[in-house]
Amino acid sequence: MILPIYVYGQPVLRKVAEDITPDYPNLKELIANMHETMDNAEGVGLAAPQIGLPIRVVVVNLDVLSDEFPEFKGYRKVFINPHILETSGDLEDMEEGCLSLPGIHENVKRAGKIHVKYLDEDMQPHDEIVEGYLARVMQHEFDHLDGKMFIDHISTLRKQMIRGKLSAMLKGKVRCAYRVKAVKI
Ligand code: NI
Repeated sequence: MILPIYVYGQPVLRKVAEDITPDYPNLKELIANMHETMDNAEGVGLAAPQIGLPIRVVVVNLDVLSDEFPEFKGYRKVFINPHILETSGDLEDMEEGCLSLPGIHENVKRAGKIHVKYLDEDMQPHDEIVEGYLARVMQHEFDHLDGKMFIDHISTLRKQMIRGKLSAMLKGKVRCAYRVKAVKI
C-alpha cells in the first residue's frame, strides 16, 4: 500500500525515533509498504518518520542507480534500529534531495566512511564499515531517525536561498508527483 509522505513542517520529522523490538506489530507489512511508497515516489531511501512513524526503520533501494554504479544491481535493503557509531574519512560534497523536501536540492558535506550497526529484516545484527555512496545514503536516512533533515547541514546563505520554498511548505503548499501529507493550517 502506498502511504502519504510527510513533508517538511510535520513535527514527526523532528522527533528522535525509537528502536523497535522484534514483536513490533505488522513489521513485514510495514516494510513492504515502505518499499512500495519509496518506489512510487522514485526515492533511493525512506525512513519511517517520513510516513509518520517515529521508529528506527529505513528502506533503501540503490538498484535505480545501477546504470551508474553496477555494484548496486539488485541492492534493496531494510535497516532496523540503525546507529552510526563513528564517522571518518574525508568530507565529501554531493547534491542531495529528500522526498520530504520536494523541489529542493542542495550540496551536503558528509563523512566518506561510517561505522554502523543495525538489524536486517530477519532481526539479524550487522556491524559494518561502509564507504562511498551507500555511506552517504545511510547518513541521510539515519539523520531522519534523529529528527534531522539534509537542510540542517547547509550554509545560512543557502538556507536563505530556499527560504521561500520552505515557508510555502509550512503553509501546506506542496506540489509533487506523489501523495504527501503536508502541514495543515
Ligand atoms: Ni530524506
